[in-house]
Amino acid sequence: MAARQTTTITFATLLFSIALVLFQVADADSKIDKSGKGEYSRLGRLSSSLGRYSSSLVGEACKNMSSDILSRKVHFDEGPCVTVLHSDKRTVLAKDHGDLVVIALDLLEQHSNEVAEKIMSILSGLTVRNSTKTAFQLCAADYGAMSRMLPVCRSIFLDIKPLGKKVTMDDAYPALGCMDKVGDAGRACSLELSNHWEHDKTEEFFDVIRHISLVWGLMELATGHRDDYSQW
Ligand SMILES: *[C@@H]1O[C@H](CO)[C@@H](O)[C@H](O)[C@H]1NC(C)=O
Ligand SMILES: *[C@@H]1O[C@H](CO)[C@@H](O)[C@H](O)[C@H]1NC(C)=O
Repeated sequence: MAARQTTTITFATLLFSIALVLFQVADADSKIDKSGKGEYSRLGRLSSSLGRYSSSLVGEACKNMSSDILSRKVHFDEGPCVTVLHSDKRTVLAKDHGDLVVIALDLLEQHSNEVAEKIMSILSGLTVRNSTKTAFQLCAADYGAMSRMLPVCRSIFLDIKPLGKKVTMDDAYPALGCMDKVGDAGRACSLELSNHWEHDKTEEFFDVIRHISLVWGLMELATGHRDDYSQW
């Protein structure tokens, strides 16, 4: 994990979080209108106790993701880490790191599929054979590999999902190794594009790599094993 460690949240993630908050506020408001203040405070208490439950887990995991506790290669800034994880409503109910891994994997799959669609749409506009077109063709292949790989990583991880017990390195390695392959492909694409396309447009591709890194780091926390063999 070398390139561009400074983290930016994707605009879409940001908008989604804002929309979610607005939705929750609107929902709470409608409850006040219908049933008065009692219902509202009951809801408030419920959401704040759920919030406490997950925010210490998410907050601490994200603090660990942004520190050097994990392998030096994993890094995801604390604020964006919290924002990304809380963009999924299921995070409120997450009980352990394993739950966070599954949520982060699903968000990553969605995110990388959106980027893959964008690659296909740009590619269809590139009619002349030049190095930009070749880079996008390689990227399309990389993202195709990622989209086939991610469900495999998910199912390997679900088999070992710790549920409170420690897993052995032999059990943890296939899941971490699977994410390494995803990271390799994502990184290959980003480097191709930064060499053969307009540099200022490549940020969202590097953002996918940061997202892969988030899943990978959470997997290290969940399994209690470090993956020191990755090359990406
Ligand atoms: C964060 O890291 C510390 C030190 O390794 C560990 O004890 C703690 O359980 C971790 N917490 C979370 C939520 O990741
Ligand atoms: C390749 O062609 C596209 C137009 O089809 C152009 O936008 C792009 O800048 C070209 N790339 C190079 C490296 O010349």
